[in-house]
Amino acid sequence: MILEEIKKIGVAGAGTMGSGIALIFALKGYEVAVTDVSQEYLDNAGRIIQINNSSLIEEKIITEQEAKAAIERISFTIDKKAFCDADVIIEAIIEKMGIKQDFWEEIESMVREDAILATNTSGLSITEICRKVKQKGRFAGMHWWNPPHIIPLIELIKGDETADETIKVLAELVDRIGKKSVVVLKDVNGFIGNRIQFAVFREALKIVEDGIATAQDVDKAMKYGPGFRYPVLGPFETADLGGLDTFYYISSYLFNELSSAKEPTLLLQGLMENKNLGVKTGKGFYDYSGRKGEEAMKRRDRNFFKMLKHIHNA
Ligand SMILES: NC(=O)c1ccc[n+]([C@@H]2O[C@H](COP(=O)([O-])OP(=O)(O)OC[C@H]3O[C@@H](n4cnc5c(N)ncnc54)[C@H](O)[C@@H]3O)[C@@H](O)[C@H]2O)c1
Repeated sequence: MILEEIKKIGVAGAGTMGSGIALIFALKGYEVAVTDVSQEYLDNAGRIIQINNSSLIEEKIITEQEAKAAIERISFTIDKKAFCDADVIIEAIIEKMGIKQDFWEEIESMVREDAILATNTSGLSITEICRKVKQKGRFAGMHWWNPPHIIPLIELIKGDETADETIKVLAELVDRIGKKSVVVLKDVNGFIGNRIQFAVFREALKIVEDGIATAQDVDKAMKYGPGFRYPVLGPFETADLGGLDTFYYISSYLFNELSSAKEPTLLLQGLMENKNLGVKTGKGFYDYSGRKGEEAMKRRDRNFFKMLKHIHNA
């Protein structure tokens, strides 16, 4: 399979991720077939896609005509045979190993021999997911970030037997749809993004638990300090520009003080036990009672769109 031959994308699972993934491919001119286990889920995906399209139009990222043309390129069906002539099949179904393995065993027997097979798993082993797939060279991890129609990163993960060619074509495809790919060379938990995100989260918890600063000030420090830098410079570029000798000296006294917690910490455990789960229950590190949760999500999306537009126009 080469990039130019890719015309049709199959997306399995019409939930949060599948609907966003389908929309992005359709907006970029690909024919997309979306499947799920029941018509109800497919109808819901149709609604999510309409909502996402409307916000992209409102933000002037796409035009109404582009949105309409994209919808026309997407077909929704419970019949997996829709994948028979797909060039790339992306699985975004429930995060359960057994279900994913059975899904891929069945799908491989009905799709083209040269089709690329990709799973959007958040963290299950790619090598395990394709255990029942015969041609393992064409199977890879393709980890989109939520919301998939906004966040640019897609991590491409090599399973033990993934062919370099498969990763190469997927990377070209990611480029073609205007997203940004990175290659994860080993099939490890958390890939790249979540390993870094959770290293930051673990340290942020420690800072609050040790009484060094409030959660509000940790968030503020992140947004206006390291977070201000990160869209422009990654950690290695930051270190190069700061001077590696300086980074060496800081590492030699600071690494020793950083959290090395091996389990969710007491603060997080307490929030969990009291069902303070964030926006979904009205309280987490912050108060989301009344309309505050909804407002926080709207504010987040507005700011995400500002950054997306910046990347779009750069
Ligand atoms: N939600 C996130 O933030 C996020 C981010 C990155 C990756 N992921 C991963 O993406 C995948 C999907 O997550 P989601 O959040 O979209 O879940 P979701 O629950 O919103 O959607 C999953 C959909 O898959 C369908 N499904 C289940 N079994 C199926 C099968 N055998 N065949 C076809 N469809 C089936 C369900 O009916 C459901 O509609 C998971 O592997 C998840 O770990 C999720």
